[in-house]
Amino acid sequence: ESSAELERAESLILEIPDYPSAGILFRDITPLLADGPAFRATVDALIAPFRGTFDAIAGLEARGFLLASAAAYASGTGLMPIRKSGKLPRPAAGVGYSLEYGIAEVEAHADFPRGSRVLVIDDVLATGGTLAAAHEVLRMLDYEVAGTAVLFEIDDLGGRDAVGDPRLHTVFRS
Ligand code: PRP
Repeated sequence: ESSAELERAESLILEIPDYPSAGILFRDITPLLADGPAFRATVDALIAPFRGTFDAIAGLEARGFLLASAAAYASGTGLMPIRKSGKLPRPAAGVGYSLEYGIAEVEAHADFPRGSRVLVIDDVLATGGTLAAAHEVLRMLDYEVAGTAVLFEIDDLGGRDAVGDPRLHTVFRS
């Protein structure tokens, strides 16, 4: 897809100061999701570097689901929702982590065959706590992290180092 389309997509990510709490600059992607060509170009750009290297996709609740499910459909693979704790009836693994604005835990079911190569997708990389926990969940379930794809990287919070994935790919960054 054209870089002009991606440039336009980037302009559709809004910066909302002091949400959800004072001092946090929230990246709001709903205007991008609302625009069909921008949404499609963005999902294509997320998965482009990983073509042929993964068997399945995992997405982080909640906004990561929006991108991961579209990416799984586009690539013809299955989807693993990595959920906040207490939402799954038969969690196979769970990992706690601290968030930029709170603490949380993520859990997943083990519905892929062992050894599957899983591409992890989320909307925003901030401190990296969420993605690091997601990777830990995948390792606990004997899956291989094929890579990590994120729509927007906030690059002054050390998130990239916290994630520690050499195949971390981000489409936009601050
Ligand atoms: C946000 C965002 C990422 C995470 C990034 O999710 O969607 O998942 O925070 O932060 P980190 O890099 O510091 O871990 P949030 O927990 O707000 O959930 P939501 O998608 O359900 O709004």
